[in-house]
Amino acid sequence: MGKELRFPPGFLWGTATSSHQVEGYNCNNDWWEWEREPGHIRDGSTSGAACDWWNRAEEDLKTAAEMGQNAHRFSVEWSRIEPQEGEWDEKALARYRRMVEFMHQVGLKPMITLHHFTNPRWLAEKGGWENREVLPRFERYVAKVVETLGDLCDLWCTINEPNVYAYQSYGAGIWPPQKHSLRLVFRVLRNMAEAHTIAYHTIHRLQPEAQVGLAYNMRIFDPANPSSPLDRSIAKLLDYLFNRLFLKAVTEGKLAFPLGQGEVIEKMADTVDFSGVNYYVRDLVAFDITRPGSFFARRFATPGAEKGPGDWGEFYPEGLYRLVRQLTVYGKPIYITENGCPDNTDEKRPRFLINHLVALWRAIQEGAPVKGYFFWTLVDNFEWAEGWSRRFGLIALDVKTQRRTMRYSGEIYARICKANAIPGEVL
Ligand code: FCB
Repeated sequence: MGKELRFPPGFLWGTATSSHQVEGYNCNNDWWEWEREPGHIRDGSTSGAACDWWNRAEEDLKTAAEMGQNAHRFSVEWSRIEPQEGEWDEKALARYRRMVEFMHQVGLKPMITLHHFTNPRWLAEKGGWENREVLPRFERYVAKVVETLGDLCDLWCTINEPNVYAYQSYGAGIWPPQKHSLRLVFRVLRNMAEAHTIAYHTIHRLQPEAQVGLAYNMRIFDPANPSSPLDRSIAKLLDYLFNRLFLKAVTEGKLAFPLGQGEVIEKMADTVDFSGVNYYVRDLVAFDITRPGSFFARRFATPGAEKGPGDWGEFYPEGLYRLVRQLTVYGKPIYITENGCPDNTDEKRPRFLINHLVALWRAIQEGAPVKGYFFWTLVDNFEWAEGWSRRFGLIALDVKTQRRTMRYSGEIYARICKANAIPGEVL
């Protein structure tokens, strides 16, 4: 047993969710039909009723509050709010208002994400994020959401993980629209950087006091053999492309290669009020001449280290410390907008959680301005192309009956949130 590790007063403790993964029956977006086609979802499942949040979000939010959480990050579903281009569904907007009002009632500070992977079907049919027309469309949607919910929320994430979205959908081609083109990956990323910029200014115009950022996925890429210059270069390249390029754009206002040719984009500089990081894993990287399509990189976990299933990556708590230290240079408040692990039996999750929080605590001790931590996720939910085969919840879900069961990791998290500290007895 160690000595308790205290977090700063007012620290935000929450969980993160996203609309399509929890709401159920999001039949107007680009995932709904796509999920039905054989081969798209690993276990052949569909999102279906998901966690039925459209009807029962309040039950889970109440549980979150009873666990001692004081914040919740969630996303609004563009395809519900604007099911046809230019047509607003006022009932859906009112539903989100009720949800956010309820969060306040039970003491959860909302953080709202405006785009979390899914798109209205009409947008996808018009070229989605490849088409620059997405920019005025996104601007109009963002304005509508902020006009409706702005008095209840001042923490906004414009886009969730643009790097992951662009790569999975346009590079690896395992999410809709299933394309395989690096050129498109960078075009989509560039459109997302511009959409973020427009959203940033739209939100601030409507709500000057808002705090606006992104939830940006960062992985640790370490050279498999640190004394090999080739491994070092490839690890550095992946770090640059995946972790730095987009953030460089929205902080410095320039589209560095291969996002662009170094051109300066009007009003793009300094468009993050906080650094939001989604952190999950580390990859060791070795140079591999046979993999030109993967930037000559072979990625794997440290032999013997704990890792997720398939190519998920290595659990590496120290990575959170390292990333937070790196983000400190931006001089902005930092939120861990997601952190969690796929673990259907909850054998690894309690340790995963504690070890990552210890790493975060250390960074805070050294002065990192971390304001909150959102665990992914509250209740098991629909994990994209992995369907229901990977479980991330502090609470287990029986998808057929919608029955919830608190996991041990959920109990641990509750103790941490209530104490605003990692209690000595769990260390
Ligand atoms: C992140 C996504 C989130 C969820 C977790 C496991 O990359 O933002 O929706 O799928 O991974």
